[in-house]
Amino acid sequence: MSNARLIPTHPIAGQKPGTSGLRKKTREFMRPGYLENFVQAIFNVLHEDHPGGLGGQTLIVGGDGRYFNREAVLTILRIAAGNGLGRMLVAQRGILSTPAMSIEIRARGAAGGILLSASHNPGGPDADFGIKFNTSNGGPAPESFTARIHAHTLRLTEYRWVEQSGLPIDDLGDFTLGAMNVSVIDSLDGYVAAMQSIFDFDRLRAHLASGFRICFDAMNGVTGPYARRIFEDLLGAAPGTVIRSEPLEDFGGDHPDPNLSHAAALVARLSAPDAPDFGAACDGDGDRNLILGKSFFVSPGDSLAVIAEHAAQAIPAYRAGLAGVARSMPTSMAADRVAAQLGIPSFETPTGWKFFSSLLDAGRITLCGEESFGTGSSHAREKDGIWAVLAWLSILADTRQPVSEIVNAHWRRFGRSYYQRHDYEALDATAADAMLARLRARLDSLGGLSFAGSTIESAGEFNYTDPVNGDTSNNQGVRIFLADGSRAVIRLSGTGTEGATLRLYYESYSKDDIGQDCAARIEPLAAAIRALLELEQSVGRVQPDVIT
Ligand code: G1P
Ligand code: ZN
Repeated sequence: MSNARLIPTHPIAGQKPGTSGLRKKTREFMRPGYLENFVQAIFNVLHEDHPGGLGGQTLIVGGDGRYFNREAVLTILRIAAGNGLGRMLVAQRGILSTPAMSIEIRARGAAGGILLSASHNPGGPDADFGIKFNTSNGGPAPESFTARIHAHTLRLTEYRWVEQSGLPIDDLGDFTLGAMNVSVIDSLDGYVAAMQSIFDFDRLRAHLASGFRICFDAMNGVTGPYARRIFEDLLGAAPGTVIRSEPLEDFGGDHPDPNLSHAAALVARLSAPDAPDFGAACDGDGDRNLILGKSFFVSPGDSLAVIAEHAAQAIPAYRAGLAGVARSMPTSMAADRVAAQLGIPSFETPTGWKFFSSLLDAGRITLCGEESFGTGSSHAREKDGIWAVLAWLSILADTRQPVSEIVNAHWRRFGRSYYQRHDYEALDATAADAMLARLRARLDSLGGLSFAGSTIESAGEFNYTDPVNGDTSNNQGVRIFLADGSRAVIRLSGTGTEGATLRLYYESYSKDDIGQDCAARIEPLAAAIRALLELEQSVGRVQPDVIT
């Protein structure tokens, strides 16, 4: 650490990681000291955990390639060297998908990784940026860890820095930065090898060669190069199968969130007369996925349930069966029914992938997913968009049925959870908080109330105790259960960067009546919740900004 400089700094308020790391406007991250302080706070926590120094430790750094990614990687390298880190692995050009980061940390036995992304949020100087730390299991740091980072941001007086110009992160190879060894690693190889170890690439290639047509929308995010290598080069899909495949710093000005609103062009393509058989998209950093058939949308809760139903049959890595499945609390309960039928446990966790980690580490679950287009398995500690697409491709190759028939067969067997999430974005945060406070104050009195053609059976906060480590996470969202088996969940987003985002989740289950229009089925419940919240009076909105 001899040549490290100590640069004086002041604590910056508001550096409290949310659902998935610290997310802020890019310009805030570009303020002098903002990124530097947060990164130094990460290293302060690492110093506490490694009192003998970081000389024997390896970390990985990379991000989704959005605006400010490269500058941030170079800053992190210099601070890492200043803190005496032994070795840093940098993804080539600083670009690495979120699931690839998780897989690389695990495969290389790294102590952790620093990941730069605001996921599906737009990128650019006037859009969003984010940073998070993943621990040695490959997963997002738990709240106990991020709370310590936050505490350090509030009392920093300096950060450590090694000045050295011309850091060659574009070319594979090694260099030194102060006393730190830096290796520039290939961004694709490790991830692709992991996918080849899970899926039967020969079988998938044969299925595509038989005339099965797919379209993959990378949304100008990080997955373009991964998808071109996997779907076009290795599986032989036609050139041009991967659209919007060039990672762009501003994602082409679009919102790289793979849902029906933001992937509208792909949705239209799947509804055209010459539509491909299968459509899929991933978000900016590659952890989310959207699954489409011809004129058919697979709701994420159904996707998790269908993958659980077919995994042992269709995917080599899961041939021995699943240990269990988990879903986040607002996610539809479809996967629970599959688990019950398979005779395996199912778990309900708070929103955020980090809550799956302990269950995965303990071998209690093999698959997990969230309604927010996240699906994954024990191969990583992040959700994995391309993995989900390959899982579906495997099921399609195995069943030789269209997407719509696979899902309809699932509903015939298990019944259907009609499901929608309504988001109200950029609300006045004070008004939104007050509205939820009023609801919370009434929760105890709601039982027995006539509601949406049924009766409220129970209403309360979701409080979670991790079954593996006993950690508790309280007030993770309000749940309202009706006597007819439907439910609503009300919570505020922990990832928004502007005002408050209200998420209203609606689920209505039917064992036999599986052919209804989803929106029509949901609307009475949604209307009753809006009235209960006095939504219009409270935050001035009725129509959601996004329905997924
Ligand atoms: C959102 C999703 C959540 C997901 C997270 C990170 O968090 O709802 O499922 O894990 O993004 O991708 P929220 O904004 O709701 O806190
Ligand atoms: Zn993401």
